Amino acid sequence: MTAPIRHFIDIADIDQEQARAIVDHSAQMKQARKGRTKGACDDQTPLEGRILALIFEKPSTRTRVSFDVAMRQLGGETIVLSAQDLQLGRGESEIDTARVLSRYVDAIMIRGNHHEQVKKLAEAASIPVINGLTDFSHPCQIMADVLTFEEHKGPISGKTLAWVGDGNNVAVSWVHAASKFGFELKLGCPPELGLREDVISWAQRENVSFSVHQDPIEAVKGADCVMSDTWVSMGDENPEARRTILGPYQVNEELMAVARSEAIFMHCLPAYRGAEVTAAVIDGPRSVVFDEAENRLHAQKGILAWCFARDAA
Ligand code: CP
Ligand code: NVA
Repeated sequence: MTAPIRHFIDIADIDQEQARAIVDHSAQMKQARKGRTKGACDDQTPLEGRILALIFEKPSTRTRVSFDVAMRQLGGETIVLSAQDLQLGRGESEIDTARVLSRYVDAIMIRGNHHEQVKKLAEAASIPVINGLTDFSHPCQIMADVLTFEEHKGPISGKTLAWVGDGNNVAVSWVHAASKFGFELKLGCPPELGLREDVISWAQRENVSFSVHQDPIEAVKGADCVMSDTWVSMGDENPEARRTILGPYQVNEELMAVARSEAIFMHCLPAYRGAEVTAAVIDGPRSVVFDEAENRLHAQKGILAWCFARDAA
């Protein structure tokens, strides 16, 4: 019997052991390059002859470049497309797009406006589809973040991480990750911009160790890591109203002082200094945000290798 196609749409859909294996494999591949992120290819080029299509309906710096470089370092090639380059941008369906691209390329990474549309694309594709951020989630980011956390603080299992600010797509993938990697997640969000109800119900059903606090201080108390993200995500409306509501949720030195003394600060970037985080925190000694950005490269390799490993399974 043929093994199912390995889509990477949400961490929630991946087995616990496989999620762990992706992070560990990413760490191994990083180590094998001995600190070199650029230049000569990896000794092993398991994706030679493979082509990855990268489709962007929204802007991207890290996801775009790290997937492109990861694929090349693993011996493969990429085609980078904006939705405007495709008939998808003129109304061709996700289903037909998936069927056509499945005849040309070996995998698709898509940064999409609507999660449901990305899921439709995956359902219709006969090749792996990777979610490179939607309005609902950002799973690739959190795989890189787990890798980053563990490099600085050791095994994430049993640790406490605090999310402060908007209960957005990145926060959702953190909730999914808490269920697979066994850490406690404390969210400090205003009630108006809290976690989605369906995600809360899912987390309760899955017995995820998480709590939601209106007071950011309560969320951060005892945390090994404090995280934030932009107050206005791509596609969000009413930016001014959001900034007003989220104003009390800025991560600054006073808030960091409530976390554990050795706590680190993480942010997926792009960041807005003076809004969700002060310059003193993001550019300070506890911030690991550029390690996170680098680890997107290493984590993408783990994700790509996992998707393509189905062929050998
Ligand atoms: N963190 C992240 O996904 O960055 P980009 O939007 O630049 O890809
Ligand atoms: N929450 C942000 C993440 C950007 C990488 C957004 O969706 O715009």
